[in-house]
Amino acid sequence: MTRWWLAPLCVVAVTVAARAAVVMPAAQQAPQAARAAQQAAPPAGYAGSDTCEACHSDKADSLKGTPHAQTKNPRTPAATHGCESCHGPGQAHVDDDAKGHIQKFGQIKPAEINDTCLSCHNRGNHAGWEGSGHERRNLSCATCHSVHSPKSTERQLVKATETQLCATCHRLQVSKTERAVAHMPVREGKMSCSSCHNPHGSISNVKNLKTGSSVAELCTSCHTEMRGPMLFEHAPVRENCATCHDPHGSSNDRMLAVRMPMLCQRCHIASKHPATLYDKDQITTNKSNRMFGRSCVNCHSNVHGSNHPSGQFFMR
Ligand code: HEC
Ligand code: HEC
Ligand code: HEC
Ligand code: HEC
Ligand code: HEC
Ligand code: HEC
Ligand code: HEC
Ligand code: HEC
Ligand code: HEC
Ligand code: HEC
Repeated sequence: MTRWWLAPLCVVAVTVAARAAVVMPAAQQAPQAARAAQQAAPPAGYAGSDTCEACHSDKADSLKGTPHAQTKNPRTPAATHGCESCHGPGQAHVDDDAKGHIQKFGQIKPAEINDTCLSCHNRGNHAGWEGSGHERRNLSCATCHSVHSPKSTERQLVKATETQLCATCHRLQVSKTERAVAHMPVREGKMSCSSCHNPHGSISNVKNLKTGSSVAELCTSCHTEMRGPMLFEHAPVRENCATCHDPHGSSNDRMLAVRMPMLCQRCHIASKHPATLYDKDQITTNKSNRMFGRSCVNCHSNVHGSNHPSGQFFMR
């Protein structure tokens, strides 16, 4: 089905195209003019929401109080074509005994659903949708949102909470946030997946991250004290905080991805001390003064980098 009714929303573009047609080579004029005429046509074929409501009062009721029903905002369906802003012009449907000729969201392709919603939601947070992981894997706006029967109190989600929504497909990450050490605010409900991710995709960053252009930039947008540049930088900290921390949570102190001292020894196997990897014996009997408690960071306490003139070993 062609959704030509989505186009008349851009009245300005139509006017410009119509003007441009005047000075265009003859070969291009015909299709341009045809399209302009089609777009400029009055909304023939529309029945109006009142007509729809007569037979589908339940659907009309379900919109009440939602942002889409607000007539004061000129961008809403209520202020434009009502039901038909999303379902398309419906006069043919009203006239059809078989009740076809209408956009049925349960029966169309994800891309067609997305086109409908993106005709209004294509800016700001939504500008990164095209090409995002979710778009590529055929999710649609209606996978996560319900226009008529949302389960959440905010954002019209198909589940009661955002965490439950993400958990339907990302059980691993959600269960990590339930581990012993996680971003405390996540468990307390002060932070959520969307504090770090934009489910609609990201223009600037990897993994749908909503801020900055790298993992480190995302993290330091809140953890400003870790933001560089520093006099002595620790290479992995600038590269990717997730080398050492699991952003979703872990069973180790401070959400460390691996336990100390292994965390450091993954890279520092050739340092002068300790001469060898700590073995099980040393770990269990604490023979080494470098092993107890916080291990390497007992001495190298500024592992995120140092601004101290003699901080080259991150000891101060
Ligand atoms: C004269 C009564 C009547 C009017 C007016 C009417 N519809 Fe329908 N509509 C029906 C019937 C009957 C069906 C098929 C049975 C059903 O699924 O409810 C239907 C089906 C639909 C469906 C598909 C439902 C499904 O489950 O697949 C949509 C969407 C729909 N109508 C939207 C609209 C819109 C939008 C308007 C206004 C432009 C409208 N209808 C006007 C009677 C009507
Ligand atoms: C903002 C877009 C939007 C508006 C406005 C809207 N709908 Fe829907 N409608 C949907 C979507 C999306 C679905 C799929 C189920 C859902 O999301 O709740 C749907 C589902 C339906 C269905 C069930 C069949 C189907 O397509 O799955 C009917 C019937 C229906 N709408 C009628 C209406 C009527 C009548 C109005 C006006 C009173 C209306 N809708 C306004 C987007 C919209
Ligand atoms: C005719 C334009 C239009 C269309 C089409 C449209 N929307 Fe909206 N929608 C709006 C406006 C305007 C708002 C109010 C907030 C804003 O300005 O972004 C809104 C708000 C929302 C919200 C926020 C709800 C909240 O509680 O904060 C969601 C979610 C949403 N729309 C989803 C959809 C989905 C899914 C579709 C496609 C099925 C869709 N919209 C189609 C105009 C539209
Ligand atoms: C993977 C699930 C998911 C998909 C797919 C999805 N959304 Fe959302 N959407 C959310 C969540 C979660 C929120 C609330 C958190 C936030 O604002 O980022 C939200 C918020 C919104 C809002 C309100 C806040 C804002 O940014 O204006 C709108 C409007 C919206 N979505 C529209 C859409 C449209 C249109 C699509 C399809 C192109 C879509 N969503 C696809 C999960 C999703
Ligand atoms: C219906 C299933 C589904 C839901 C619900 C869902 N996702 Fe996804 N998500 C996917 C799929 C499929 C991928 C792509 C995985 C891949 O390509 O490896 C993905 C990828 C991602 C990625 C990685 C993106 C990338 O570029 O690699 C992030 C981050 C993500 N989702 C976050 C979320 C968040 C946050 C929510 C809840 C708001 C959510 N997802 C809800 C299915 C889902
Ligand atoms: C504190 C910020 C933060 C929060 C909160 C967060 N994430 Fe992430 N997430 C990240 C970062 C950073 C990455 C990239 C990690 C990497 O590159 O190793 C990521 C990666 C992902 C991926 C992609 C995994 C892969 O291997 O490609 C998914 C899926 C995901 N997160 C889902 C979620 C879900 C679901 C939630 C909510 C339960 C959530 N995230 C909460 C920061 C966060
Ligand atoms: C939206 C803001 C925000 C973002 C983004 C964020 N954090 Fe946090 N982080 C917090 C808050 C708030 C706390 C709790 C602080 C407190 O309790 O003092 C915290 C705590 C932590 C802790 C300490 C946990 C503990 O056991 O004390 C670590 C480690 C951490 N974050 C790492 C990261 C990493 C790595 C990233 C990037 C993947 C990141 N954070 C992104 C807000 C954020
Ligand atoms: C080389 C490994 C490593 C990298 C990379 C790393 N951290 Fe850490 N981080 C640690 C260790 C080890 C601790 C525990 C320090 C302690 O116990 O004193 C820690 C602790 C923290 C804490 C808890 C508060 C504190 O000062 O102890 C936060 C917050 C934190 N890191 C954020 C970040 C951020 C943000 C990044 C990226 C910019 C990052 N970390 C990169 C190893 C690392
Ligand atoms: C992902 C690899 C990686 C991890 C994990 C890592 N480091 Fe590093 N570290 C480096 C690199 C690369 C350098 C820079 C080495 C150089 O300049 O010769 C460095 C430099 C250092 C230095 C300064 C050495 C010098 O010669 O300037 C110290 C001290 C140090 N790291 C301690 C630690 C500690 C303690 C941990 C665990 C909390 C840790 N590192 C984890 C890669 C890592
Ligand atoms: C008892 C304090 C102490 C502990 C514990 C400690 N270090 Fe050090 N480290 C030092 C001192 C002092 C230096 C300065 C150079 C030197 O004397 O070798 C240093 C230097 C370094 C250097 C740079 C020089 C080199 O040898 O390559 C690295 C890398 C390093 N330490 C890694 C680690 C790692 C990894 C651990 C944990 C397995 C650790 N350190 C535990 C005190 C300590």
